[in-house]
Amino acid sequence: MALLSLPKQVKIVEVGPRDGLQNEAGPMLSANIKANLIDRLAASGLRHIEAAAFVHPKWVPQMANSAQVLQQITRLSHVSYSALTPNLQGLERALEAGVDEVAVFGAASQSFSQRNTNCSISEGLARFEPVAKAALAAGIKVRGYVSVVVDCPYEGAVSPQVVAQVSDQLLQMGCHEISLGDTIGTATPARMLDMLAAVAQYVPISQLAGHCHDTYGQALANVMAMLQAGVSTFDSSVAGLGGCPYAQGASGNLATEDLVYLLHGLNINTGIQLDSLVKVGNDISHLLGRQNGSKTGITLS
Ligand code: HMG
Ligand code: MG
Repeated sequence: MALLSLPKQVKIVEVGPRDGLQNEAGPMLSANIKANLIDRLAASGLRHIEAAAFVHPKWVPQMANSAQVLQQITRLSHVSYSALTPNLQGLERALEAGVDEVAVFGAASQSFSQRNTNCSISEGLARFEPVAKAALAAGIKVRGYVSVVVDCPYEGAVSPQVVAQVSDQLLQMGCHEISLGDTIGTATPARMLDMLAAVAQYVPISQLAGHCHDTYGQALANVMAMLQAGVSTFDSSVAGLGGCPYAQGASGNLATEDLVYLLHGLNINTGIQLDSLVKVGNDISHLLGRQNGSKTGITLS
């Protein structure tokens, strides 16, 4: 028996330094520690690293030193260092810090959009338009996120049609990639694929990414389903760090180590050295005083 067709190569977007660390309750990690984490992730073969977020520091205090983090990393020319930019003010800060790519982030439910960005879905999209325009004019690629693509922590089940419409608008404004966020990790493969089918009516599958949080341990199952549907970009977080400050109970993203283990086992090339990555995951877990959230990481230690 053979699996349905799978991509030969998968792009992994490492979101640990942003999605992972943004939720840490303790004092802000120093720029030096974050830059060292990012450098080690790059050294283990990750080529797309979401390094920072130029959001309001009162909303997400852990990201307040984003400019210093970007200043302190040792840049590798083949690595893209990106950051979240919710508005023009965020974009200006990001451009000044020399990011390679930015990301705007919308949602598919009104309540989540309000809590996360203090505006409605359409107000958020209207804010992103000039951000995308200015970033593209500056020669910077723009990624678009859609949060709560299956369930919202405040409103419950989300309509796939709304996800499709928000994704379409992000594509129309020039986003090269749309990352579909199962923010609270409640999705199971059939629901994920229903949502994907609706979005794929508007956005080519090759421009979609899966962003699975692992709250219910479903992230790898959802990745597998999306892989078979043709998605070849996935977001993950070293040691499964993270959560979302505006989604109570949401656990970290799928651990990058577990994703890499799956992909290599399927003979899919990632360019990542798993043993180096495992060491990075162990070290950051130790530093944060957390249990490593990657089963692969624990097993290979
Ligand atoms: P706001 O308060 O509505 O903004 O926040 P405002 O435009 O009314 O301005 C109010 C003040 O904020 C002003 O300062 C601005 O200068 C300042 P004041 O005049 O009062 O002194 N301000 C800023 N300061 C620094 N950087 C900025 C900025 N913008 C305004 N960029 C805003 C609106 C969007 C800024 C705020 O709600 C915010 O920062 N939200 C960020 C929330 C966030 O980062 N959430 C986590 C990331 S998203 C996520 O994790 C989901 C994802 O992983 C996918 C998934 O899992 O689903 C991507
Ligand atoms: Mg997330």
